[in-house]
Amino acid sequence: AAGIAGCGSLTREVAGELLSSAGRLPEPFRVPLPVPRTAVPVRTANGVDHYELVQRVADVEILPGLKTEVWGYDGSFPGTTLVGRSGRQIVVRVRNELPVPTSTHLHGGIQAPDSDGYPTDLVVPKGYRHDPASSGKGDHGHGAGHGGAMHVAPADWTLSQGAKEYTYPLDQPAATLWYHDHRMDFSAPQVWRGLAGMFLVRDDEEEALGLPTGDRDIPLMICDRAFDEDGALRYPSLEPSLTGTPGVEDAYMEGVMGDVVLVNGAPWPELEVDAARYRFRLLNASNARRYRLELEPGGRFTQIGSDAGLLAAPRSHEQLPIAPAERFDVVVDFAAYPVGSTVTLVNTLGEGRTRQVMRFKVARRAKDDSNVPSRLADVEPLRAAAAVAERRFDFRQTSTSDGTRIWTVNGKPFRSAEFAARPRLGTVERWRFTSDFHHPVHLHLAHFQVVARSGREPLATDAGWKDTVDVRPFEVVDVLARFSGHRGRYMFHCHNLEHEDMAMMANFQVV
Ligand code: C2O
Ligand code: CU
Repeated sequence: AAGIAGCGSLTREVAGELLSSAGRLPEPFRVPLPVPRTAVPVRTANGVDHYELVQRVADVEILPGLKTEVWGYDGSFPGTTLVGRSGRQIVVRVRNELPVPTSTHLHGGIQAPDSDGYPTDLVVPKGYRHDPASSGKGDHGHGAGHGGAMHVAPADWTLSQGAKEYTYPLDQPAATLWYHDHRMDFSAPQVWRGLAGMFLVRDDEEEALGLPTGDRDIPLMICDRAFDEDGALRYPSLEPSLTGTPGVEDAYMEGVMGDVVLVNGAPWPELEVDAARYRFRLLNASNARRYRLELEPGGRFTQIGSDAGLLAAPRSHEQLPIAPAERFDVVVDFAAYPVGSTVTLVNTLGEGRTRQVMRFKVARRAKDDSNVPSRLADVEPLRAAAAVAERRFDFRQTSTSDGTRIWTVNGKPFRSAEFAARPRLGTVERWRFTSDFHHPVHLHLAHFQVVARSGREPLATDAGWKDTVDVRPFEVVDVLARFSGHRGRYMFHCHNLEHEDMAMMANFQVV
């Protein structure tokens, strides 16, 4: 499974290193879809809700009859879902009981730099000795990175002992966000082990629309994994036998993919549904796998929202290409199918097992007073003329003088103290991304609108406010980004988590 793919693979639709599971995998559509628990505040003071999440090791049943050790927020994978309201601040205290440092990033959230989960802003477990000169060497679960020392000045580490409070103002409209680990050099293995959860923001405007709610508003976190015979998660760096030497980047240059598709942490699950409208908040939480989602035997997704909020008006799609970290908020109307039939969510980029995602069983007729209005939210289309600056960022592979292949932004690997841009607070800039491969580019803080792909119209699925855009091989993607909310240091990077760990990241400073 550890072959090194050559350049010929750069234009493949599916790019990544496929890890095969050992042992027997369950038949698809046997396990019921789990829905992660919603967090309740531990207290509320002065209009601020306080939550507590504990990162810990837990044994969970993912493959029927087997135990899998995960690293989870509250010991679950996915973590507990956090639900906030637009304009109402919440504070999340994350306590780290894992054997390794962590950093928690609210992806799509507009928060101050010290609550943004910067890769070197770590919560270290009690008794952990952090050595900035050789960060992570010999750590339980080697990352894909080169060791933070190469990228981070010793003075640039911020360590919180045992726990850290993250403050989220939620000064942003209703949206489907998510949170996940962002530790320097180790995001990929740590997310793979389970450190990811959903974070929903609601608001009054959205609630007035009459969209499906309650049991018919369901987050679907999709990600792939591979397993050992005994149920343990497989990841190349955890297995010297797969890579020769742990930490050798070549084995996962293109990112790591597994052969088991999980939805909300369950393999190819099934959900019984009423013959009614459902709202699904689709998130691709995979390290590297891209999906093209379709419904079989046919059907359409009514897209109501994108990464960072609702669309101005719904859009209907037969296919949803979704890259790592992207979200699609969709409505599917099961009244279009006969009671007793099944509808399968498939991934038409996958083959064999990875072509299946999950199945819906239309169980009964039911009352449905939801609807999808033709106007959803105010989305101000950004005008190209509003951009006060234009910048170009090339996401590509480079070789160092000793021949090591590395992933870079504009030819440079990440340096914590360098800035690739200094946008002014409150302005809009045009950022142009080019790439040699599939790189899902994510900006912290700034939401953006995709305005062109290689000089042409963006994809139908690019609409709305986004925070992640899939830049496809040899494509030129133009976005208009708005830098608002906070000054300070933020980052942008490729969200293929192995690429991210291989330092395909850069900083910008909002001034
Ligand atoms: Cu979802 Cu910087 O990450
Ligand atoms: Cu990438």
